[in-house]
Amino acid sequence: MSEEKVVLAYSGGLDTSVAIRWLIEEKNVDVIALAVDVGQERQDLEVVRRKALGIGAVESIVKDVREEYVEEFIAKALKANALYENKYPLVSAMSRPIIVKHLVEEAHRHQAKYIAHGCTGKGNDQVRFEVGIAALDPDLEVMAPVREWDLTTREREMEYAAARGIPVPTTKKSPYSIDDNLWGRAIECGVLEDPWAEPPSDIYTLTSDARGHQCDEAEYVELSFEQGLPVALDGEIMSFHEIIDRMNELAGKHGFGRIDMIENRLIGVKSREIYEVPGALTLITAHKALEDLCLERDLLHYKLQIEQKWSELVYNGMWYSPLKEALDGFIETTQQLVTGDVRLRFFKGSCVTVGRRSPYSLYDYNLATYDEADTFDRDAAKGFIDLHGLPTRVWARQRRKVGKEGEV
Ligand code: ARG
Repeated sequence: MSEEKVVLAYSGGLDTSVAIRWLIEEKNVDVIALAVDVGQERQDLEVVRRKALGIGAVESIVKDVREEYVEEFIAKALKANALYENKYPLVSAMSRPIIVKHLVEEAHRHQAKYIAHGCTGKGNDQVRFEVGIAALDPDLEVMAPVREWDLTTREREMEYAAARGIPVPTTKKSPYSIDDNLWGRAIECGVLEDPWAEPPSDIYTLTSDARGHQCDEAEYVELSFEQGLPVALDGEIMSFHEIIDRMNELAGKHGFGRIDMIENRLIGVKSREIYEVPGALTLITAHKALEDLCLERDLLHYKLQIEQKWSELVYNGMWYSPLKEALDGFIETTQQLVTGDVRLRFFKGSCVTVGRRSPYSLYDYNLATYDEADTFDRDAAKGFIDLHGLPTRVWARQRRKVGKEGEV
């Protein structure tokens, strides 16, 4: 037995499997493997658990944290309409903080000095792990085998594994790097590294091709929200988790929720990313539609800026940070009246809001209508415009002095 312990974030894949042996051999530590279930498309986690023990972990733990993930993490992302660079619903960025939380918990339970992860040295995830760990326990130390070792090619890694009896994948490796959880799926590498190349159709598993005939009919769905979170689908009360699963299925069937983007990683590199996020995008679309109805104008406008900042912080690994926590407080107070129903229509890759209603709607028919019911005071408009435009009028007069008029 070695002196020190390390808790390793274990996925069951080649990298983290090799990492178990590498940590034992190179760092002389006892490895405790932790696999966290955040709703990945599944390998059998009991198999994963046993695999770690077979490779030499002194203990192997599987934790199903899906409920906590939905209630404590995804709920905040939905209330924030979180889209990094206005597009990406933060799939991977969302799962890292909860994985970190459980890594730290297990490290404390086992009195481990170290936590290890299998991230490369080029991505965002290493940052999310390490900053997250530092925030929850600044005294824990991190080991990052994949960043450190010299098994730089897949062949060398396979040789290393084979020489030590670590099970190596028998099927040809998919050229893609995939990360997923119940909020969606991220796909990169392979041919996708050419930003001009159209993504091949076989990379998708959650969404069907909108040009296909899986669904030639439009389909309507009614989502009900209470204080910013979904509580029912077509009038049937169900959990947020269940609603995410159902929307992933339904929107995916209609081919809605594919994103092809060039994104800016925190470490300074632009990368080409494909996402499948049918449920996440549907729920954000519906949530935004309800907020349009229920949030007062200044609050709505201000919240748009907060949403961007929130998404950027979470993308950059700052889930556990004072600013992100403070913004959570702001966002939470905005949701008090975000209660009501949204009707969506899915058809051939699109998801369109076709109706919204709320007991707290700020939409006033009598103010908005151009019919006889109109109660809007048109006379007040004249004075309003005079004052609203006053600074512009004064400026225009002065500008004349320099011989400019009506120019832009
Ligand atoms: N670029 C995305 C992010 O930083 C996804 C990264 C996911 N990792 C992967 N192996 N595909 O959030």
